[in-house]
Amino acid sequence: MSLPEGIEKVLIDENSIKNRVRELGELLTREYQGKDPVFIGVLKGSAVFLSDLIREIRCPLEVDFCRVSSYRDSKSSGKIEFLGDIRTDISDRYVVLTEDIVDTAKTLSVLKAEFYKRGPREIKVAALLDKPSRREVAGFEVDYEGFRIDDHFVVGYGMDCAEKYRNLPYVGVYKG
Ligand code: IMP
Ligand code: MG
Repeated sequence: MSLPEGIEKVLIDENSIKNRVRELGELLTREYQGKDPVFIGVLKGSAVFLSDLIREIRCPLEVDFCRVSSYRDSKSSGKIEFLGDIRTDISDRYVVLTEDIVDTAKTLSVLKAEFYKRGPREIKVAALLDKPSRREVAGFEVDYEGFRIDDHFVVGYGMDCAEKYRNLPYVGVYKG
């Protein structure tokens, strides 16, 4: 199969993603039975993972989304701002922050701190990918992780490079 221009190789194929997402769904079903959790997706990257993941979870849940400015795009480094907040009242709720990939963990650590101010019962993190070698927030853990990867810039399955490649059904390494 020939790959689109800009893609060096397939890192995680469609079938492997599907199987792993199913396993995570089974785990989350056991974990959140009777807890009426709120899954919060961080737009836009998490949209594909979140929509597949929730269809593998066999217990009632709610979904909301937030959108934040990326520190990558901002001049004031490290500052992350809400571009779109959730509408759900998460006080006393079980929250699962859902991301495509955790890299430095700056984004999720800021979001987690912000959401904790609102009095949730608990906040856990689910991410399709984890790049622990790039971590800048010491000790930040992904509670439900799909795959741990080395330091590649990856695209596909929701993840982009300059807004392209989000529709690829696999995770590919970007040539750069
Ligand atoms: P952070 O460094 O953990 O704060 O990651 C912030 C965001 O950067 C992630 O949610 C992704 O949207 C994006 N990101 C990090 N690594 C990659 C990558 O390899 N490909 C595409 N997006 C990435
Ligand atoms: Mg993201």
